[in-house]
Amino acid sequence: MTNPLSPDEQLLAWMTDIRRTLHQHPELALQEFRTAEYVSAKLAELGIAHQNGIAGTGIAAFIGEKKNGARSVALRADMDALPITEKTGLPFASQHDGVMHACGHDGHMAMLLGAAALLKKQARLPGRVVLLFQPAEEDEGGAEKMIAAGVLMGVDAIFGGHIERHYAVGEIAVQPGLICAFTDEFRINIRGPGGHAAKPHESADCIVAAAFLVTSLQTLVARETNPVYPAVVTVGKIHGGTASNVIADQVVLEGTIRTTHIAARENIFESLRRMALAVRDLYRTETELTLTPGYPPVINDQKIAEVARQAARQTVGENGVKSQPYPSLGGEDFSFYLKHIPGCFVRFGARRDDLPHANAHSPVFDFDERVLPVGAEFLARCALLFLQQAARD
Ligand code: NI
Repeated sequence: MTNPLSPDEQLLAWMTDIRRTLHQHPELALQEFRTAEYVSAKLAELGIAHQNGIAGTGIAAFIGEKKNGARSVALRADMDALPITEKTGLPFASQHDGVMHACGHDGHMAMLLGAAALLKKQARLPGRVVLLFQPAEEDEGGAEKMIAAGVLMGVDAIFGGHIERHYAVGEIAVQPGLICAFTDEFRINIRGPGGHAAKPHESADCIVAAAFLVTSLQTLVARETNPVYPAVVTVGKIHGGTASNVIADQVVLEGTIRTTHIAARENIFESLRRMALAVRDLYRTETELTLTPGYPPVINDQKIAEVARQAARQTVGENGVKSQPYPSLGGEDFSFYLKHIPGCFVRFGARRDDLPHANAHSPVFDFDERVLPVGAEFLARCALLFLQQAARD
């Protein structure tokens, strides 16, 4: 008899088709209407009860029952794509210009539906599994909106994962503790009177001030942050100027701050304020700094991470279970769920050795689809193990 928690050929084909269909029709954060409709149809195909329209486009689906003191466990997939024009040349490439599943969320949805199919086949679930299809992971914090809509009510633990090209197919990285960073955004608006390029003494040059500031910001991490605390300050956007013979009256800088320790985070905020203010005095410009708090860090629960480790062992064998020795400075809004209930977020190895530069968030991103059954089986096993262990406790 085949293992009922291992996807068979038929399920594999079903998941691959789902991934490719979703890949062809990516949608941006909070606009995942067609995606939600498709996922809802697939859940209906499996005969799984579910609720649509949570936080706009989110879905919560339910397998099993929570009665006689049984527990409830959630599994989460994200649904949104990125504002990128795809250049993979894949036969199932995005049909929508400027929008692409360049992070693998199409794969996450296929995996969770695969896990749903596997769990649905279980004769007796010792509790309830809640499948969360969440909008807006890349932007807008969909997790927070789903939680506000009440999806965690009565849920005891949560599992999720992300496709990761830094690991090979057949590897799952499970790490207790902090694995993802604080992600905060900043915007600095530099303003001056503007003027004639040939008469700098009559104006204040916002471009020179901005250039100085960009260079100075590099010392926030290099010279002002404890070197044992990982941190990043990146200016990702700079806009200013209208013509070569005009002194710009405005430059706007936008960037992100990634930190893994509260002390380093607050220190960088403080130094950023000081530097933005200093430019005002140095270059006679007006400066305005806006700091926008982003996602909190993902901190995996020790006990739940142990359940995830067992599930990973059962799925890919001892040798396939990896650790993640250093945190990623990427952000992940799975962290919001972890502020309410314990959980564990893992990485599913999906490297394409033939495509060394197909990085996440790039127009040529792709992953090895053999990760789909691995993710499906892992998620199903996490849910089952958690419920079984909770029933014994
Ligand atoms: Ni992602």
